[in-house]
Amino acid sequence: MKKTITDNKVDPDILAFTVGQDPVLDMRLVEWDCMGTAAHVTMLSEMKLKKPVVTKSEAAKVRKELAKIVRLSREGKFEIRVDDQDVHMAVERMLTDALGDLGKKIHTGRSRNDQVAVDVRLHMKDEILRAEGELVALAAELRKFGLAVGAVPLVGRTHLQPAMPSSVEMWATGHAEMIMDQLHNLEAAYSLADLNPLGSAAGYGVPLPLDRSRTTELLGFARTIHNCFGASMARGECEASLVCALAQVMAVLSRLAEDMILFSMPEFGYFKLPREYCTGSSIMPQKFNPDVLELVRSKAAQSAGLATAALSMMHAMPGGYNRDLQDCKLLYIEAMDIARTTLRILAKVVAGMTCDADACRRAFSPGVFATDVALRMVAQGTPWRDAYHEVRDHLERLVDEDPDRAVAAKSHEGTTMGIDHEVYRKREEAALESIAKRMNALAAAKKALLK
Ligand code: ARG
Repeated sequence: MKKTITDNKVDPDILAFTVGQDPVLDMRLVEWDCMGTAAHVTMLSEMKLKKPVVTKSEAAKVRKELAKIVRLSREGKFEIRVDDQDVHMAVERMLTDALGDLGKKIHTGRSRNDQVAVDVRLHMKDEILRAEGELVALAAELRKFGLAVGAVPLVGRTHLQPAMPSSVEMWATGHAEMIMDQLHNLEAAYSLADLNPLGSAAGYGVPLPLDRSRTTELLGFARTIHNCFGASMARGECEASLVCALAQVMAVLSRLAEDMILFSMPEFGYFKLPREYCTGSSIMPQKFNPDVLELVRSKAAQSAGLATAALSMMHAMPGGYNRDLQDCKLLYIEAMDIARTTLRILAKVVAGMTCDADACRRAFSPGVFATDVALRMVAQGTPWRDAYHEVRDHLERLVDEDPDRAVAAKSHEGTTMGIDHEVYRKREEAALESIAKRMNALAAAKKALLK
């Protein structure tokens, strides 16, 4: 009888439990697994040994076969069987079926522990860059909304209470900037993902002259994780950083969604969502509900839950590989799916949102001008605290003012008249350029290994 790869007859219930969702989730890793194996086999063929593990021409054959597997998977013809357990053993099975003994050599000096860590990191890099692109696209939609509506006065709020004159432009670009700043969190996760654990094998290296920097170069990683034990422990840590970064992105998006829900309530009426973006009620014929935005809030909560799960999973884990780590894969894939869908849907909703400028102006009450009144007294020479008390003691004297004039009166950096759209545009452009550069480098490395 043909041996399975690990030749271990595991009880079917135990097998199903330990395999978990790998046969489904690992389908996302197929190309990255093939890329990692191509780099490993290339490096094996270059090792200076009296008797090579694989020759250069054998390595070329393996790479060709791996490229074929990638093609099959793109055509939907790749499958992970339950007794494969995961993508790694499915690929090895296919290589062995196609290449015989040569297929059996590809795992020399490697463990699934460093193999999966590489796959996940390559996949994470690709996904982070895509998410960053979608994040920039959402920020750009907000900037465009702000620019199109312009300095229409909006009641600025603190504690949700009317506070000071603001503008729709300031609101929109303020959210855009918060979103763009999340690139820092995603970039931190990217930097951690951009390290190569390959060659650490099960976490302790092997008695073979592996050239670890060679696979780093072939796979396009920024550097090798030097210590093999450290490289095995970095699995899970890097996923956790990403899940936490995504939870933070989601928290920022949730605040935007909350503002949009509030400001499109009939009682505010500042913004209007297109009817086709709202959902109705089965009983109340008049309803057009912002369910889409409510679900952004709930997804942010789920995302925070995933971050908690990732951190909890890590804190009690002993050094070295533990199977708990398999579940980290689920967490980052789920967190990434949530964040990316939310970014795309919000960009669409923002692009369709309109502003009712009259409703925005109507919302101004005399109190919103109180600080401006006190500052006009300061301009006449009254000390600030005296002016403050004068206004506070006679709030009944405050009157309606022209909100447009109030908006026009503030011109320092970042206030109603001091919003520089060029700053946003340039930041978006620079981010997109850096994303494209890295996407191209990753695609080029993959293509070079799998041709
Ligand atoms: N599917 C496994 C994971 O994601 C692959 C590694 C299995 N390694 C092991 N020592 N059992 O972690």
